Amino acid sequence: MLNTMNTKPLRFFRRGAIVTLPDVEPNRTLLELLREDLHCTGTKEGCGEGDCGACTVVVGEADGEQLKYSAINSCIRLAHSIDGMALWTVEDISPNEDHHTPTPLHPAQQAMVDCHGSQCGFCTPGFVMSLFAQYQNKTCKGQAITREDAQAALSGNLCRCTGYRPILDAAQAMQALPLQVVNEAEVLLNLELLTHIPRGPEADFSYKSPQNLADLLALRARHPEAQLVAGCTDVGLWVTKMHMQFAKVLDLTRVAELRHVEQYSHHIAIGAAVTLTDAFAALVNDRPHLAEFSHRFAGLPVRNSGTLGGNVANGSPIGDSMPLLIALGANVVLTRQSGTSIAHRELPLEDLYTGYRKNVMAPDEVLAWIKVPKAIEGDFSRVYKISKRFEDDISAVCLSLNLHIVNGVVRSASIGAGGVAATPVRARKTQAALVGQAWTQATVQQAMQTLRDEFTPISDMRATAAYRSTVLGNLLQRFWLESQGGVQTDLRKLNLDNTAKEVAA
Ligand SMILES: Cc1cc2nc3c(=O)[nH]c(=O)nc-3n(C[C@H](O)[C@H](O)[C@H](O)COP(=O)(O)OP(=O)(O)OC[C@H]3O[C@@H](n4cnc5c(N)ncnc54)[C@H](O)[C@@H]3O)c2cc1C
Ligand code: FES
Ligand code: FES
Repeated sequence: MLNTMNTKPLRFFRRGAIVTLPDVEPNRTLLELLREDLHCTGTKEGCGEGDCGACTVVVGEADGEQLKYSAINSCIRLAHSIDGMALWTVEDISPNEDHHTPTPLHPAQQAMVDCHGSQCGFCTPGFVMSLFAQYQNKTCKGQAITREDAQAALSGNLCRCTGYRPILDAAQAMQALPLQVVNEAEVLLNLELLTHIPRGPEADFSYKSPQNLADLLALRARHPEAQLVAGCTDVGLWVTKMHMQFAKVLDLTRVAELRHVEQYSHHIAIGAAVTLTDAFAALVNDRPHLAEFSHRFAGLPVRNSGTLGGNVANGSPIGDSMPLLIALGANVVLTRQSGTSIAHRELPLEDLYTGYRKNVMAPDEVLAWIKVPKAIEGDFSRVYKISKRFEDDISAVCLSLNLHIVNGVVRSASIGAGGVAATPVRARKTQAALVGQAWTQATVQQAMQTLRDEFTPISDMRATAAYRSTVLGNLLQRFWLESQGGVQTDLRKLNLDNTAKEVAA
């Protein structure tokens, strides 16, 4: 166990009161805190790695005048990261008990009972909390929950007994039950109060959450040995699965400058502390065809904690956002303290990487923004994720293509690939094979071979090297077919009648 002497108190709002916990060790997960320190065992531990959703809890943060509710995985979230937030677990959502009548249930719980959404019950607290977040974000705002909404909200929860139909039924049934609302004015007032509590002396560095960029960079420069964390959806697994322990943790998620998506005339700047949920929302807003891809990145609780900056900085060769961002021509902005000012440098995203999980960032540098060019007329772009499971799975191969075609000729081609090299990569040879060529089947056939030959992927548990090479070329063929319209390449939407007519024609 690491020294905890200097840990500042952890404070959050729960069950109508501010909770203050001294000496919470920096590596303690929120789930450990709940179950072992607070003896609140309603929240369950299943996988301990963000996959099953049994540990789902809901956090609340002020978003202007509103409360923003997010379902998160408590098993991989460090406890200190919820400092200053509101927290709800499955034990906190039923209306106040009077100890004389049976405990009334929250609509999310009652609907699970009514629809027979629980059998062994192990997954149930997690499902209930995902439903609670959906209830707050939709039902309490007068918005209907569709089947699609329900599926998206429950994308991070697994059940091995019940089957999903009754649980999806419950997600829709809860909106018909008598409304139960959170006293948001009280929560917001307490969140405001929490911001005024002094954060402890500088010497108390075991878990630091600076509020502005200058402070973050100063701490990064003074303590390069501290583990930098954002949403902790990668780092959390190093703690729970690899048993790594950090004496100092530097959390960048409170840095005001890094929490926004900024719109400029030609690009979108996504701050490194913006969650994957919000970052994808901005990308989808500009390019609606990315909606499905955004839902295939992990499940909702992981996207609610994890950041786009963390995905890029972590630099996994099978990370999903990088092939997309490379194809879209994104740049990264790195920042560091320079004397009394802040120095920036900007580079193409693919130039960030120097080898497997290695990058050009200096020990005192931080990835601050990802700048993504906006869509322009005449672009045709797609991103394809190939994984064993359709949802909540890691890519075997990810390919993203962005072509600008004028009068049937490829004017520019930008292609990013994942799962085929030690880093996310740009397919430069294939781009060169396409630019200046007529956009025809013959050009595509040649480029398919170039793409298959361009990389030497490895075989692992996700796919063989041969499969990866083959599928790369096939995805380019699919892109060509989609660019021609009318041909059905999405098997889930395949209409056999239409396909027969197309073949006959
Ligand atoms: C169940 C599950 C499913 C997942 N599914 C997918 C998936 O489908 N596709 C996919 O691509 N990924 C997936 N991931 C991986 C993960 O969600 C992403 O890599 C995530 O984006 C990391 O962001 P974070 O904020 O959680 O980073 P953290 O875990 O906090 O940090 C990751 C690394 O990046 C560094 N870092 C973070 N921010 C910065 C910064 N601003 N500057 C410099 N360094 C920084 C940290 O020091 C650390 O080394 C999944 C993870 C889980 C647990
Ligand atoms: S215990 Fe499985 S996601 Fe947390
Ligand atoms: S009810 Fe048993 S795992 Fe879901």
